[in-house]
Amino acid sequence: MNDVLIDVKDLHVEFDVRAGIVKAVDGLDLTIRRGQTVGVIGESGCGKSVTARAILRMVPKPGKVTSGQVMYYRKAKKGKKHLKDEVLDITQLPPDGEIIRQIRGGEIGMIFQEPMSSLTPVYTAGTHINEALSLHRLIPLQKVGDQMAEAITTYRTVTKDEAREIAIDMLRKVGIPKPTERVDSYPHQLSGGQRQRVMIAIALSCEPEMLIADEPTTALDVSIEAQILDVMRDLQRTANMAIMFITHNLGVVAEMAEEMVVMYMGKQVERAKTVDLFYDPKHPYTQALLKSIPKVGKRSNERLATIEGMVPDPFHLPTGCVFHPRCPMFMPGKCDKITPTYKQIGENHWASCLLYEDV
Ligand SMILES: Nc1ncnc2c1ncn2[C@@H]1O[C@H](COP(=O)(O)OP(=O)(O)O)[C@@H](O)[C@H]1O
Ligand SMILES: [Mg+2]
Repeated sequence: MNDVLIDVKDLHVEFDVRAGIVKAVDGLDLTIRRGQTVGVIGESGCGKSVTARAILRMVPKPGKVTSGQVMYYRKAKKGKKHLKDEVLDITQLPPDGEIIRQIRGGEIGMIFQEPMSSLTPVYTAGTHINEALSLHRLIPLQKVGDQMAEAITTYRTVTKDEAREIAIDMLRKVGIPKPTERVDSYPHQLSGGQRQRVMIAIALSCEPEMLIADEPTTALDVSIEAQILDVMRDLQRTANMAIMFITHNLGVVAEMAEEMVVMYMGKQVERAKTVDLFYDPKHPYTQALLKSIPKVGKRSNERLATIEGMVPDPFHLPTGCVFHPRCPMFMPGKCDKITPTYKQIGENHWASCLLYEDV
């Protein structure tokens, strides 16, 4: 367990809205190790984004984490502000406190679907990156000359000039043309794709331990997408960055992720190594999801088509297995009565389905 970075345990997130309570995340377990890319897939509304936000302690109102934990195995690292190894339950941190602000952006970077709402209109691209850097990144002091001193405290925050250099370098890495000019552009002067790339540059500039990427390239064209994925892979290799990669695009996720998690109605229904998930899916939901796209394992912009049947009304969830009304393997008297448990069914393979339980 020593390489575990994030360990989500039995997480429940609810939205109390006028029509009732939506269980957006309903007993989710999710482990992410250092340097690992985990792909998260599932139909729209199954709780992927809410999970990502819960990890960053930023579930939007009226949402609330009602139980469970998000354990973060935090390590002291050169160039970061905290100095000791510790284990934190992110759900218990003060929501606007010093610690979560260090973690958010600095140790766990994020890229969300809607870049416009995350960029401040009166800040240039460079200023955005500066802000992130001055908040989170430290630079070793030069010429201290004494090894003991080096070990104790020889870090300072980045200067304006350094931050500008880093910003230009990051903009270049994410494929922004003329980065030395673009660094001074405001969000409205950039195209949608460029704004998304600025977001990605901000997230990656602090060299986070983990990046949460929530459909990061959905709005980009294929060549830019390829470039961005390369930048992420690069950082993953050089900085041992973990990635939680949420996407609709199975081609992209197959290329990026070693392991995949399939979610349905706020729960994980299957987890496996990516190859096993693609070639030997065990859960009928995963099988349906994979069948709903024509080509698997190839890069394409094809999005998930729909699976037969409707996603259930969140206020009237089916009894037993929530997938049973849509399931081709439905076993009457069992699947509508018994809730399956999420259990290991093979090497590195987990699923929650009564087909794999003695009932
Ligand atoms: N701000 C909100 N208010 C009410 N319900 C919400 C809100 N955000 C998300 N939800 C509900 O939580 C569930 C999961 O949403 P989400 O995590 O965004 O799904 P996904 O990212 O998998 O498409 C959905 O049923 C959605 O309606
Ligand atoms: Mg989402």
